[in-house]
Amino acid sequence: MVAVSRLIVRPSGPLQGEVTIGGAKNSALKLMAATLVAPGRHLLRNVPDIADVHTMSELLEAIGCTVRRREDDAIEIIRPEEVVPEAPADLVARMRASTAVLGPLLASAGRVRLPLPGGDDFGARPVDMHLTALEELGVTHEVVDGVIEARVDQLHGGECKLDYPSVGATENILMAAVRADGETTILNAAQEPEIWDLAAFLNRMGAHILGAGSRTITVTGVGELRAVEHSVIPDRIEAATYLAALGAAGGTITLRGADAGQLGVLIERLGSMGIRVAPEPGGLWATCEGRPRATDLQTLPYPGLATDHLPMLVAVLASADGTSFATENVFTGRFGYVAELARMGADISVEGHHLVVRGVDRLQGAEVRALDIRAGAAMVVAGLGAEGETVVTDAHHVDRGYAGFVEQLCGLGADVRRAVG
Ligand code: UD1
Repeated sequence: MVAVSRLIVRPSGPLQGEVTIGGAKNSALKLMAATLVAPGRHLLRNVPDIADVHTMSELLEAIGCTVRRREDDAIEIIRPEEVVPEAPADLVARMRASTAVLGPLLASAGRVRLPLPGGDDFGARPVDMHLTALEELGVTHEVVDGVIEARVDQLHGGECKLDYPSVGATENILMAAVRADGETTILNAAQEPEIWDLAAFLNRMGAHILGAGSRTITVTGVGELRAVEHSVIPDRIEAATYLAALGAAGGTITLRGADAGQLGVLIERLGSMGIRVAPEPGGLWATCEGRPRATDLQTLPYPGLATDHLPMLVAVLASADGTSFATENVFTGRFGYVAELARMGADISVEGHHLVVRGVDRLQGAEVRALDIRAGAAMVVAGLGAEGETVVTDAHHVDRGYAGFVEQLCGLGADVRRAVG
């Protein structure tokens, strides 16, 4: 049951103080799914306490695992010898990352029933590439009444050439190939940090994966894997969100636990907007004085600017000095948030997958909707720099991706509160 909640944001800044960057949502969810490849007791550390992690816990429990969250941000997952290789439809509908159980269930049970994930507010997000690649490993599938039924007697190695470096497809292939007979090569693999983290976790379990983080990954299948402990990498999208908040409200902040090594293009682009970011031991330091400058942005697969960074940056550019151009190359339908920013007085035109953002002097507070996790965070960012009160409805979307969002922003001196009911 999702509580109806709104975030009330008032003009804020200059921000000052420190936030703590938690474990990466997009990595933690896949590592949780990856525990399915090896029976026993796994321990994942630095797992954020967010709604999507709760959903993945429910999914693993439906599959037969025991999941327990500890006080210290760690999650213990006990994967039994026998699993139930079926994903309940309501959980897949709630969270697309549920598709990450496809590869590991094929590896551990030889079959899986997975309802087709729907689209979401940033367009259709198919799994065709996941399935085509798994066919190379011997998997057959059919879709019956909207449910993917996939099976394989024994996975075997193969060559999976992706038409696009899909993060989800690369992850599913990795989690299946670790248990295949022989060698699998993934060509045009995704290079996102979440892929390195998954490969590190699987290698700790005893897998043989080489080249994670590059375009070509080679996996030599092994007969058995064992349960292990692992710590999730820091969340680069959470870090980007607080840096965008700084751009909107000004100030000087420290992001404890952020990893500059994963944020190269973002830090460079923020620099072009006049927002200075520098690594320091254990995190990042950042400062923004005065009004940010317009810039040009385009999203690309890693190491390019992440598609998940763009909504928050556009929220800053909406009141930057000058006209910016932004291009979304990853999910081309991902501009729903632009109409919400327009309610706040933003002057943005959408031309196909391009945006022309004419910076206005100041946005005006309004009632706006959180359409998805990042769109919702972008509305909060916009509200920090706007005049008057901004009410962000459907705030449960934001809770899917951020632990203690309101508390962390308040800790920086921002005027944000939650209203429930
Ligand atoms: C993951 C992230 C998401 C991030 C995205 C890109 C999670 C839970 N989500 O999503 O936050 O924005 O990576 O960095 O980790 N595509 C197909 N067919 C497929 C698979 C993908 O056409 O079978 C297309 C998608 O529609 C999209 C592009 O490929 O246009 C990239 O998708 P992908 O990298 O797979 O993203 P996700 O893994 O879904």
